Amino acid sequence: MLAEQIFLSVLAAAVTVQAYGFGGSGWDAAYGRAKAALNKLNQTEKVGIVTGVKWMGGPCVGNTYKPSSIDYPSLCLQDSPLGVRFANPVTAFPAGINAGATWDRSLINARGAAMGAEAKGLGVNVQLGPVAGPLGKNPNSGRIWEGFSNDPYLSGVAMEETIAGMQGSGVQACAKHYIGNEQEHNRETISSNIDDRTLHELYVWPFMNAVKANVASVMCSYNKVNGSWSCENDALLNGLLKTELGFPGYIMSDWNAQHTTVNSANSGLDMTMPGSDFNNPPGSIYWGPNLEAAVANGSVPQSRLDDMVTRILASWHLVGQDEGYPPVAFSSWNGGKANVDVTGDHKSVVRAVARDSTVLLKNDNNALPLRKPKSLAIIGQDATVNPAGPNACSDRGCDTGTLAMGWGSGTAQFPYIVGPLDAIQSQAAADGTNITTSTTDDTTAAASAAASAGTAIVFINSDSGEGYITVEGNAGDRNNLDPWHNGNELVQAVAAANKNVIVVVHSVGPVILETILAQPNVKAIVWPGLPGQESGNALVDVLYGSTSPSGKLPYTIAKQFSDYGTTWTTSLVDDFTEGLFIDYRHFDENNITPRYEFGYGLSYTTFKYSDLDVNVQARPGAAEGPIVPGGVKELFDTVGTVTVTVQNSGKVAGAEVAQLYIGLPDSAPSTPPKQLRGFQKLHLAPGQREGATFELTRRDISYWDVQQQKWVVPSGTFKVYVGSSSRDIREQGSFRI
Ligand code: NOJ
Repeated sequence: MLAEQIFLSVLAAAVTVQAYGFGGSGWDAAYGRAKAALNKLNQTEKVGIVTGVKWMGGPCVGNTYKPSSIDYPSLCLQDSPLGVRFANPVTAFPAGINAGATWDRSLINARGAAMGAEAKGLGVNVQLGPVAGPLGKNPNSGRIWEGFSNDPYLSGVAMEETIAGMQGSGVQACAKHYIGNEQEHNRETISSNIDDRTLHELYVWPFMNAVKANVASVMCSYNKVNGSWSCENDALLNGLLKTELGFPGYIMSDWNAQHTTVNSANSGLDMTMPGSDFNNPPGSIYWGPNLEAAVANGSVPQSRLDDMVTRILASWHLVGQDEGYPPVAFSSWNGGKANVDVTGDHKSVVRAVARDSTVLLKNDNNALPLRKPKSLAIIGQDATVNPAGPNACSDRGCDTGTLAMGWGSGTAQFPYIVGPLDAIQSQAAADGTNITTSTTDDTTAAASAAASAGTAIVFINSDSGEGYITVEGNAGDRNNLDPWHNGNELVQAVAAANKNVIVVVHSVGPVILETILAQPNVKAIVWPGLPGQESGNALVDVLYGSTSPSGKLPYTIAKQFSDYGTTWTTSLVDDFTEGLFIDYRHFDENNITPRYEFGYGLSYTTFKYSDLDVNVQARPGAAEGPIVPGGVKELFDTVGTVTVTVQNSGKVAGAEVAQLYIGLPDSAPSTPPKQLRGFQKLHLAPGQREGATFELTRRDISYWDVQQQKWVVPSGTFKVYVGSSSRDIREQGSFRI
């Protein structure tokens, strides 16, 4: 398809869309304003709007040129998906993976809104998040914690809520990294070879939600997909994203993920970042004057350049940045001290997300909650804040002290971390509990501290991040799924000296727990993931039971690493041969028993499920008709509901995430036995019962038909599973189509 035709088809899709609720404006109105502004710009100004000024050429990690003919700024693009990077003071929010572990739409939205408010307050136009790629097919991939879950449905809902929250606060969101950037090793050279069905049903799925949520921008990734660079892949950018999903916003390159002037432009790239030669040979400035020349000699159509500019300006108008947007209030390159304090009361959002994402994995004999214990031993370096300060390592590239975010560009500066030990000590003072500590990872010291207390709490962790930093031999991706710093030995030593051991795991993703579980004295395991600055306070909320734990695993914890069937590769080609079968889809298909399954998490209370009701009616066959942002409009129509009653059958208040999984009929080609297609978190007082309602859309009961190139609802009997996790199914039913 010619670039002009694509522009027209996308624009046509865009202008049929109704207002989307950002300050009364929508894409149609935004496009109207953008087109009017476009007419006032000269060619150099147009090129400046789509080109970065170079790395460190402005206050933000990405900056564009300011035109003089219209009232439009040098755009400020800034990391990260968990807070504003390189600035202070800011709030250091829990990582995306924790937002996912809450399974709580309103909290995920609130986190997005608070992050967006800080970005806006600091004058950031585009916040570089949220993340749906890596999706997380490899449990050891370095950046999985930046995103929400390796389940596309959960990731998709979290993308949508985060973007709605962020853009509702006025900042442009950027859904990244599109697509197939599933590992750090060789990320700038590897080709992710993904079949069309897997691409649609796993990797593109959450980006559909992002586009449906009117995300302003999408960042294409470093890697190749099926042999072509993501940022100059006509099929992925013009085809899938802009035509099939009807994306009206703009596509920016990851930092130096662009490789050509003409091909990138004609394939659908709209903005190059950071605009300089960063890591590449001098002279590799692909746009700027080179783009102007390419348009002048006809290699890039004028309409393509105009389309880039229109998309960028429209997104700026869409979120209302054309009215009174604050100026940039910090510089990334001089310590980031801001001249405003934007943090407000966001620490309460941090604490709520951290608390409600904490997963209780094991709790024998009601070891938890703690009830005014006489004595406690607190053990492990991870219980304390790095004595050199929580930001001692640049981009959090070390694992010293308690772990509360991973490392790399997906970070922010901590204003503080409430360390687990600090928070437990405050509670202990109130309770009259005697505390003994051993805050190194030394096993002898740990055992002697543990021997003197009634209960021992051991803190261990596992870290990862972006590949430009290597920490303790891990070049971004993790080398294994074991706890760091001899965490297994530390727990063993403590469990040999104390009969009531509680293990707390701060981690970027799954950790193999078999050695720890083999210790009979380990009574409880608590999983706070990457909780952000309020780490200790949120942990105390859960440990002492002021709130029942309600987080659920957003991934599977296996008994052994090889059970996942996927890992990062040192090859330059990654054939995604596992196809649709990642994480629980793989465990279910191959009858592998996980240690803790996807969706699992205990509470201090219990829940009863009853009264499943299934009411679904849909026309079989392909989704047809007009395209709205997100894809064929019909895909998002509700085709029915599943309801169930959940009762708190225990003695304390708690929250349950009721989960809906669907199994497609046999007429659909080889499909995972069950896939998450709904969830609802219910907060219930003891005895209270409430209905959970799952609305199914047409997309939820479809598969991607490669021959037809359409989403198809198969005919036959669909299985309905509702439960407390992907394996703790409490109610089953079916419907026929
Ligand atoms: C590269 C990372 O992949 C991306 O996520 C980030 O936004 C840019 N660097 C800018 O820091």
